[in-house]
Parts: sequence; C-alpha cells; structure tokens
Amino acid sequence: MKRPEAHTVDAHRPLTPADLFPAGPRGRLGRNVFIHSTIDSTNLFLLNHAATAGDGAVAWAEHQTAGRGRLGRRWEAPRGSSILLSVLLIQTADSPLLSRATLLAALAACEAIETRSEARPAIRWPNDVILNDRKVGGVLAESRPITKGGQRALVIGVGLNCLQQPGHFAGELATRATSLEIATTHPVQRGALAAALLQRMDHWLDACASDASAWPLLRRAWLGRCDDIGKRVHLHHDSRSFSGTALDISEAGDLIVQLEHGGRRHFAAANTTRTA
Ligand code: BTN
Repeated sequence: MKRPEAHTVDAHRPLTPADLFPAGPRGRLGRNVFIHSTIDSTNLFLLNHAATAGDGAVAWAEHQTAGRGRLGRRWEAPRGSSILLSVLLIQTADSPLLSRATLLAALAACEAIETRSEARPAIRWPNDVILNDRKVGGVLAESRPITKGGQRALVIGVGLNCLQQPGHFAGELATRATSLEIATTHPVQRGALAAALLQRMDHWLDACASDASAWPLLRRAWLGRCDDIGKRVHLHHDSRSFSGTALDISEAGDLIVQLEHGGRRHFAAANTTRTA
C-alpha cells in the first residue's frame, strides 16, 4: 500500500523547544534544550558542555557538519530532513545505564515511530533502527568522565531519517537506507516524532531508575523487536571473522552467538562490526 504522491509536511521548518516538549518537560529530560541550526555534532556539543548543560539536557540540530556514527563512521543528513538529537545524562561511573543506553534509545525510537505511523520498526544489533530491512535510524551512546566526584557524562544521540527521498541516499546507502517519508504512508512530522521519542526515552529512564524489574522488561521488549535473534550473523571482532546464530543479548547488551564452529561467544558492540 503506497500513497500516490509525497506529502511532506514540515520540510525545513526549524523546530523549537515547544515542539520537542509540547507539554513542557515532565521527566528527567528537557530542562535545558539547545536548538542549533548548524553544529558539528549534537553528541559532541553535549559532551563538551556536560559540566554546564546539566542532567537531562537535550540538543537538537537541523544540520550537522560532522555527525558521528558508530565506530568512527560519519552520519550525514540533508538540512531539515531528519531527527538529529542527543540527550545528556549525568551518571555514576558504575551506572548500568552506561552499557544499556543504546538498547534503551533504539527501543524508544521504534516505539516513537510506531506512535506516529503504521510502521513496525525492528532493531538490528547493536544500534540500527530498521524498516523494510533498511536502516532508518541509528543510536550512538558515548560517555566521558566529568570532573565532579567520579561521575560520567553519558550522551545518547539518535538520528532518524524522516523526509529524505530516494535520491538523497548515495552509494551503498541507496540499497541499505530508507526514510519514514519513503517507507510509511503517514505524513511525517519531525516535531511530533521527536516529542514521542523523548517521551519514550523518559519513560524507560524513569522506569529503570525507580524499579529494578524494569530492565528485564526493557530487555524483553528489545528482544521482541530484534531482527537478529535466531538468524545467522556475520561479525568481525579482534581481526577475526565469526559466523553463527544470534541467541540473545547479555545484561551489558553484548550479542550472544552460537558459533557455527562450536561454542558460544559474547560480542561487545564497542569492538565488533557486522560484515553482512
Ligand atoms: C549509527 O548508526 O552509527 C549511529 C548514528 C547516530 C547519529 C546521531 S545524529 C544525532 C547524534 N549526533 C551525532 O553526531 N550522532 C548522533
């Protein structure tokens, strides 16, 4: 079922804090909101301003000149086309959220897309948001120490392709990437989608902070959306290639794989690439 014509509705309308928090900040996120027309990277901005921006700060950009992806890759998007946002969380150095942030944000992104369209996105470990077997978004969680009392600044960045047309995806992205405009039939409203994303992130952050049973719930919801479980995966780790069947994720978000040459192995996102 595909609509006969494109119906982009908010192309290039710069967003405001009220778009991101229509009812005002209700949870941990949003007491400080930084809207940038152009910036190098919203993740970098919050990492660099962690000491002053404050816990729960949100950075949004219409355009990034040095958008960061996982494993040092770039994240590119035409001006005004996407959700490019990051949130800052001040955590203790032993906080479990440091290793679970990617899972939380990828799940929140799927849930947000689902509230705004008929699509049911999936997750490809560790950080891809997938629609129709193509990448529609990604999560990059980064942390660094801040001077105060051994705490860490955790920055979770989310990029979601919203208004791109097929011609915007060049090279290998032409067959691997998609946008909500391409893959769904509902008009894409970046502001409403971003608000839903922040609301779902707030929901899971609050649940995990206040109730020990929330993490298993989150993990189950994540596994329910993970496109890899039960399927063959091909990974590169420590200069070696591995193939096997994805079984599960660990507490820390590692992918647990039954290797085809025998044995089970945990793969950490930080030093594993997917080769297919
Ligand atoms: C990936 O799939 O490799 C992760 C992409 C994450 C991109 C987002 S866009 C907003 C935030 N700022 C960045 O520089 N990166 C993240």
